Amino acid sequence: MSNRSGFSGRLGFVAAAAGSAVGLGNIWKFPYETGENGGAAFLIIYLVCTFLIGFPVMVGEISMGRKTLADPYGAYNKLGGRKWAIVGLFGVICGVMILSFYNVVAGWAFSYFFKLSFGDLLTSTDFGGYFGNYVANISDNFFISFLFMVLTAFIVARGIKKGIEAAAKILMPVLILLLVGLIFYSMTLPNAMEGLKFYLVPDFNKVGFDTIYKAMGHAFFSLSLGMGALITYGSYISKKENIISSAAIVSIADVGVAFLAGLLIFPLVFSQGVEPSAGPGLVFITLPGIFQTMAAGKLIGGAFFLLLSLAALTSTISLLEVPVSYVVDEYKWNRTKAVTILAAGIFLIGLPSMFSQGASELFTNFIHYDGVSKDFLSLIEDVFLNVGLPLGGCLMSIFIAARWKTSNMAAEIEQGNAGYIGSFVQKFIDIVITYIAPVLLGSIFLLTVMQKFFGISFF
Ligand code: TRP
Repeated sequence: MSNRSGFSGRLGFVAAAAGSAVGLGNIWKFPYETGENGGAAFLIIYLVCTFLIGFPVMVGEISMGRKTLADPYGAYNKLGGRKWAIVGLFGVICGVMILSFYNVVAGWAFSYFFKLSFGDLLTSTDFGGYFGNYVANISDNFFISFLFMVLTAFIVARGIKKGIEAAAKILMPVLILLLVGLIFYSMTLPNAMEGLKFYLVPDFNKVGFDTIYKAMGHAFFSLSLGMGALITYGSYISKKENIISSAAIVSIADVGVAFLAGLLIFPLVFSQGVEPSAGPGLVFITLPGIFQTMAAGKLIGGAFFLLLSLAALTSTISLLEVPVSYVVDEYKWNRTKAVTILAAGIFLIGLPSMFSQGASELFTNFIHYDGVSKDFLSLIEDVFLNVGLPLGGCLMSIFIAARWKTSNMAAEIEQGNAGYIGSFVQKFIDIVITYIAPVLLGSIFLLTVMQKFFGISFF
């Protein structure tokens, strides 16, 4: 066990875990959810959720990983036996399924980078139509998301230190530089202040229960929690590492990048007097229209989609590492074989999602629930992300509280953080894991299932 290869040190772990957290969730989803849910008020609730629930659950995941030095299945198996290991296996399956469609969306971002920088995207007169045509065009999509999966696989195959850590240490600083550079530019645009006002001055009149529950779900997804991604990364750190401060830095990095993405996008959107509540199309439809009006549109727009692609890449890496660690640990496959077979398999599983954006009628109007006809990608997203992650997080908290015991978790955290036991932070984390997280995550799970699949809405 002692020769299990791992991160070289704290910086490597933090860069990789922050890379996992910072993804499409921060730069694509967070701005449109904020735009749809009242701006600053949503931002504040999301910050509170991150530190109140996300941070303690992250500490729990990392502790389970470092205690057992195993993949999610192995971690539950060692601490709780075979029955509990099903929860870990469910996490691995969620990772496979989330990556299958996440990689497709990452491919859109990556091809928008090429089309905007080197292609004809900015000459379009109808960006909604352009996007609709693009996602329905299988040959382009197939090629680019295949390429994206190959990139991901290549990095994961190189291992923890030379692959995942090295990539994160390069990609994360580049990402921050691109982001900050773009913010400086967008602040110079006309009406930038209007955008900032929308983003930073809260209007709590728009906040209802559903805002809170959306913000909580988003915080959870954005931190990469609920499926054992951080159990996996946690299994690669040493006992000298301080889990609390590492988890705190990762949480701050995650909300920090989401916050910066908002600082970039709202001034852009308001500079053209466009509505910020465009939904999922905000980044792919609204923004190109804005880049078109700029003299330096190709450069700025290209930089934006490169940023989005890099953020997605450090996340697809972590999503792939979860099933890879499972077969490496449990079935003793060598890493290269595991990566090749899993990446190929997950790419294939993603094909119906790829075809579900207009290319195939069957997958586009695949199923009817939640009052509308849903495509295959949305179905997988609902089941494994919107429902699966809160369920996984709820079960993990119950597992720690009822089976592993918070005292054992505390003993693990104490290593590398002398004085943790008995501290205020310990009390806070124990209370959240024992009472608050199971109840809140369990409620998100139940409410989402009721609302989406049974049409019962409580607010
Ligand atoms: N956190 C990433 C994002 O915001 C997505 C992600 C990567 C993820 N790995 C994960 C989500 C593991 C849940 C679990 O885009």
